[in-house]
Amino acid sequence: MPTAILRSTFLLLTLLTLSSAVLVNRTIDDEYGDPITSTFPVYSPIGDWQQGANCSDCAIKPDVSKAFDGTWHDSTFYPDSTPKSVSVTFNGVAVYAFFITSPVLTTTTTTQTHLNFTLDNALIGAYDFTPDASSTYTYNHSVFSKTGLSNGEHTLVMTTGGTTAALLLFDYVIYTRTFDFHVPRISRILHLGFIFRNGYRIFVYQVLWSVIKDKISKDRSYRQWGAMVGTGTFLRQLCRSCH
Ligand SMILES: *[C@@H]1O[C@H](CO)[C@@H](O)[C@H](O)[C@H]1NC(C)=O
Ligand SMILES: *[C@@H]1O[C@H](CO)[C@@H](O)[C@H](O)[C@H]1NC(C)=O
Ligand SMILES: *[C@@H]1O[C@H](CO)[C@@H](O)[C@H](O)[C@H]1NC(C)=O
Ligand SMILES: *[C@@H]1O[C@H](CO)[C@@H](O)[C@H](O)[C@H]1NC(C)=O
Repeated sequence: MPTAILRSTFLLLTLLTLSSAVLVNRTIDDEYGDPITSTFPVYSPIGDWQQGANCSDCAIKPDVSKAFDGTWHDSTFYPDSTPKSVSVTFNGVAVYAFFITSPVLTTTTTTQTHLNFTLDNALIGAYDFTPDASSTYTYNHSVFSKTGLSNGEHTLVMTTGGTTAALLLFDYVIYTRTFDFHVPRISRILHLGFIFRNGYRIFVYQVLWSVIKDKISKDRSYRQWGAMVGTGTFLRQLCRSCH
């Protein structure tokens, strides 16, 4: 019996260390949005943006196979016209924005990119790119990143306005979601501890499974956790020092 209590205490401590956050990256595509939350970028003015991948009258022709998901949104801003923006709302602690940039084309084609970034209504950064003679199309071009955000809902607005013409080829945004594994109620842990007093591996399995099963039902990102527990890999890792 004292051994069982010792083991329960040890496992409780192990589980407490397990309740830290797990970070998961998700992508919001320009066309297909975020497949998990079904949120889509918001374009403004909507009529000034078009899907670049199947646009027949766009002067800018990146390689469709190199763009994320084979799509990007195209818009050109001219001074004194309405500013153009793309906005994304996400729930997370970090955000990364990716555009495609163009080489110099004809003398009359706008290929510079100028952006201002507003996060939760505060201007937080800018990006300026002017291609030179040696420039080529660049894909997955990181134009903005911000980490260390408070965990919650944020809105990133990427805008071009002002006095310089600009080309926008928006491809996608990545954001980092955080999940907390909460330790189940102490009573439940102790209860399980006594039932499986001679088999703490089973004990860990039961408690972890109850936590993870609940998460899986709410979020697809946890399926890999479920798989890890299922194969026992995770348990072996966890119990390496249990012996
Ligand atoms: C998320 O993606 C960004 C940009 O690619 C990367 O820098 C970061 O390390 C990734 N974070 C996680 C938790 O995978
Ligand atoms: C281009 O693709 C988008 C998204 O699939 C579609 O809504 C649009 O009608 C297409 N445009 C053309 C010209 O095919
Ligand atoms: C850009 O990133 C996407 C997704 O990571 C990848 O599929 C694609 O091949 C990359 N494109 C280039 C040109 O590296
Ligand atoms: C970014 O914001 C600054 C300050 O409001 C403004 O002067 C500049 O023209 C903006 N740039 C773009 C590309 O919109």
